[in-house]
Amino acid sequence: VSPADWEAAARQRLEPPAWAYYAGGAGDEVTLADNVAGWRRWALRPRVLVDVSRVDPATTLLGRPRPHPVLVAPMAFQVGAHPSGEIGLARAAGAAGAAYCLSTSASTAPRDLAEAVPDVTRWFQLYIRGGIEGALRTLTEVGELGYEAVLLTVDFPVVGWRDRERTHPWDPDPALTTVAAGGAPLAALDWRDLETLVAGSPVPLLVKGVLDARDARLAVDCGAAGVVVSNHGGRQLDTVLATADVLQEIAAEVAGAVDVLVDGGVRRGTDVVVALALGARAVLVGRPCLWGLAVGGQDGARAVLEQLLAETEAALALLGVPRAADVGADHVARTAWR
Ligand SMILES: Cc1cc2nc3c(=O)[nH]c(=O)nc-3n(C[C@H](O)[C@H](O)[C@H](O)COP(=O)(O)O)c2cc1C
Repeated sequence: VSPADWEAAARQRLEPPAWAYYAGGAGDEVTLADNVAGWRRWALRPRVLVDVSRVDPATTLLGRPRPHPVLVAPMAFQVGAHPSGEIGLARAAGAAGAAYCLSTSASTAPRDLAEAVPDVTRWFQLYIRGGIEGALRTLTEVGELGYEAVLLTVDFPVVGWRDRERTHPWDPDPALTTVAAGGAPLAALDWRDLETLVAGSPVPLLVKGVLDARDARLAVDCGAAGVVVSNHGGRQLDTVLATADVLQEIAAEVAGAVDVLVDGGVRRGTDVVVALALGARAVLVGRPCLWGLAVGGQDGARAVLEQLLAETEAALALLGVPRAADVGADHVARTAWR
């Protein structure tokens, strides 16, 4: 029933190394836990006697209408959670009306996913490995394959220090990881490269992994179509701020110019509503989708997403805001209890 139930059921089904890879974070996992806690440091402030007989979670993203503000976050090696992998999760996303973002490190190539699941709104997540020239070719390819946007992940110049993965090294079937093989991340990537990538991208390019309003401004100045406020789900630098704690200042800086998205610890419909109130246009959901996939393949992932969306609609009704687009800063307050 609850997100914690799905997580517990997934844990039972996954081997310890896969569980460590999916569930774990960096260091002492301070940020991993704080991402979840962060949303709960905000309290909702409902209004009453508002006609909520019709709730509309619709939004627009990159200028296009979306049925609701939830996307599936890019995550590597989904075949390790369930044999249907990226294809199963992308189909679940499509059924739930969520856009699906394919990782560079996926077990399914961009073309194979596009052919298997042509009708879901597909985004692509880009890691720069090797050099910029190869990345530009990838951008062209995914644009031709109908991926509507690219998230350039910038919080991965080196791999985070993850104890759980060192305790339970995961050595999945090489067939699962061939797509990801491509060497180490390009640690030298900088703002000038971002300008080059934006100029060479046939689709809108958003910068994923921003935690500081100054970096959000720089991204906009380089031509990015948006920013994703993210700390990589607590997997990279431990002890950084929870995304719920930095979202508002980043949205204040750039939400007038570009779309601001957020991820990290979004588990409940109330978390989605808090994110909207703090200035996000949409949220990406990571691990809960993997738990659904591990438990029930495509149907499990779809159930997790539909549950989150039903909760979001209920939260909007109970908040007295029938349209998601009307959620604003006066619908939240810092809690007194944390
Ligand atoms: C198992 C796993 C693999 C991930 N792989 C990627 C990846 O390949 N590229 C990327 O940009 N982010 C990756 N992420 C980060 C997610 O896109 C997202 O930022 C994060 O999971 C959101 O937090 P949540 O899991 O608490 O919802 C990964 C996260 C997990 C849990």
